Amino acid sequence: MPTPSLLRNLGKLCLGLLLSLAVSADEPTTAQSGRVPLPSPPTAKATVSDTQKCVEPTENIRRFHGQYLRHQRNDTMHRGIRTTKYSLVECINCHVTPSSEGKYPSVKTPDHFCRSCHSYAAVTVDCFDCHASQPEIAITKVE
Ligand code: HEC
Ligand code: HEC
Ligand code: HEC
Repeated sequence: MPTPSLLRNLGKLCLGLLLSLAVSADEPTTAQSGRVPLPSPPTAKATVSDTQKCVEPTENIRRFHGQYLRHQRNDTMHRGIRTTKYSLVECINCHVTPSSEGKYPSVKTPDHFCRSCHSYAAVTVDCFDCHASQPEIAITKVE
């Protein structure tokens, strides 16, 4: 019998592969034609520069953001190094955009950027137990 953790990792791998195929398809109808609804993350509010959309080329951030974020976390927490390249606050500021009613989704709802794929890929992260899932602008705004 394969162990549950092996199965889980295999599952993650398959979904990760599927996902990288799905989200890299330029044609949105490709993603919608399957039986399982594939994630389509909300569009970011800005690009990092004129030549690059995200803090890393999109292919790389899509694939490796978990590792980038973990490294950043380790650097900041354990060695006192503070770089902003993979700042979680900045990810959220740029990627979590308001709905048509002007409301910023929190990680509690499925339309949140970070959940758009994670729910599908069965990834769970504990990050938002402590970190804000809404951009600073939404938190500091007086309602
Ligand atoms: C200044 C804006 C900005 C910042 C900051 C930023 N991104 Fe991005 N990111 C983008 C843009 C633009 C894209 C291309 C897709 C789009 O237009 O939404 C992108 C793409 C992505 C994708 C792939 C999404 C997809 O559709 O497949 C992931 C995952 C991602 N970013 C995660 C992160 C993480 C994690 C951070 C923080 C370490 C971060 N981003 C910081 C703008 C940003
Ligand atoms: C138990 C609470 C807690 C959890 C859970 C947690 N963090 Fe943090 N994190 C902190 C604290 C405290 C700091 C340092 C203070 C700060 O910089 O906001 C920090 C700092 C960071 C930083 C550097 C600051 C920044 O925004 O760039 C990153 C990146 C980060 N965490 C990512 C993550 C990610 C990714 C996860 C989930 C995998 C996570 N954290 C889970 C408490 C937590
Ligand atoms: C384009 C789809 C997509 C988006 C958008 C996305 N993720 Fe992920 N994320 C994944 C997939 C798939 C995995 C599992 C494969 C891996 O570990 O890279 C993952 C893994 C992770 C991990 C590592 C989890 C672990 O158990 O090691 C962290 C941390 C993470 N994501 C944080 C985030 C944060 C924070 C955001 C929002 C800023 C985000 N992700 C947005 C698809 C996405």
